[in-house]
Amino acid sequence: MRLLLTPLSAAHLTVAAKAATTEILALLGSGCHRRLIGDSDSAPIRRQSRFSGAVPHYLNMTTKLAPTVRLNNGKEIPVLGLGTWKSKPGEVTEAVKAAIDAGYRHIDGAHVYENEKEVGEGIKAKIEEGVVKREDLFITSKLWNAYHKPELVVGACKRTLADLGLDYLDLYLVHWPMAFKEGQGLFPMDKDGKMLFSDADYLDTWKAMEECVQMGLVKSIGVSNFNSEQLARLLAVAKIKPVTNQIEVHPCLNQSKLISYCKERDILVTAYSPFASPDRPWAKPTDPSLLDDPVIKAIADKYKKSNAHVILRYLIQRGTVPIPKSVTPSRIRSNIEIFDFELTPEDIKVLDGLDCNGRICPFNEAKESKDWPFNIEF
Ligand SMILES: NC(=O)c1ccc[n+]([C@@H]2O[C@H](COP(=O)([O-])OP(=O)(O)OC[C@H]3O[C@@H](n4cnc5c(N)ncnc54)[C@H](OP(=O)(O)O)[C@@H]3O)[C@@H](O)[C@H]2O)c1
Repeated sequence: MRLLLTPLSAAHLTVAAKAATTEILALLGSGCHRRLIGDSDSAPIRRQSRFSGAVPHYLNMTTKLAPTVRLNNGKEIPVLGLGTWKSKPGEVTEAVKAAIDAGYRHIDGAHVYENEKEVGEGIKAKIEEGVVKREDLFITSKLWNAYHKPELVVGACKRTLADLGLDYLDLYLVHWPMAFKEGQGLFPMDKDGKMLFSDADYLDTWKAMEECVQMGLVKSIGVSNFNSEQLARLLAVAKIKPVTNQIEVHPCLNQSKLISYCKERDILVTAYSPFASPDRPWAKPTDPSLLDDPVIKAIADKYKKSNAHVILRYLIQRGTVPIPKSVTPSRIRSNIEIFDFELTPEDIKVLDGLDCNGRICPFNEAKESKDWPFNIEF
């Protein structure tokens, strides 16, 4: 039996993950059927792998962790995360708990999702149960558009930390390049329903993001929804380079140009809406679904996998980090079952062919902002 990793993901695998991989192979070779794929530094789980006595209920013998990749600041991020946009406060605590039990160590959240308190409750429960330690987890949040004025950034970060019940974030992102008018709620609008913008410049916002790192509130900082020109402008002045650009990526919007641009600058791409967000509030019943797409299904059948597995594998083999959202425990568990097969270059080519510039998160309400990112090709 062998672990299936692409040359790209293998090259990016960290020393810790490689060491764990060696251990896994040794375990498999010795007849142990435990399949722990990758690993960050989960000492309790590693110890458990050699322990022949009673196994705590939360460490069943099939727990798998996603491998990690190294960010440009030397820190590591698991290549698969749990998304939490649209996850209702009443559902997300259980989703986070199910994800941690299933081996997820990376949770993607944001202040604007209005559920960080409940996300934090799930994290707290699993730390208290002893399933994970804080340092095993990679927790991301995002600065909302109405807090771009530099003097508001540290406060917004502290508010997120308080909501999550954490004393640091692994990653804090500027959610969008556009700045909204301050002090009028999350989506400030005039009486005609037109979005109100602020004159804050994201370069000044970034200085305050850097301050969050210096204060120890966050380990890494990055951006989201930035186009190549906005990244270039930021890179020209940043004292701390963004570790990631979190953007929409799925087979209908494969973002090959922006991904190459980021890769050349050692900025990891996090792939949001990997399934093209079928539960997006503006979806129409007649919209096509990637999860039922027959071209993807033909590939999935070859490997006895689902469309979701093929899509996630496609994104990982292209060097991005997908963050699928689910509040359904069986889907959460299923979505991490992607480290036991590998798509061929021919499969990737077929999937590349599905691209149709099919952006599903254009944020058109903010189109009037000078910083709306989708006015140029990439
Ligand atoms: N930075 C940004 O601006 C930005 C924008 C959008 C998204 N994001 C992040 O990216 C995450 C993911 O994107 P997304 O929430 O838009 O959508 P998504 O992950 O593409 O799709 C989520 C939908 O797929 C369903 N689903 C999940 N796994 C499935 C499976 N195995 N089989 C069938 N259906 C499945 C979920 O259903 P159930 O939940 O009902 O199981 C949900 O309806 C977000 O949650 C958020 O964390 C960031």
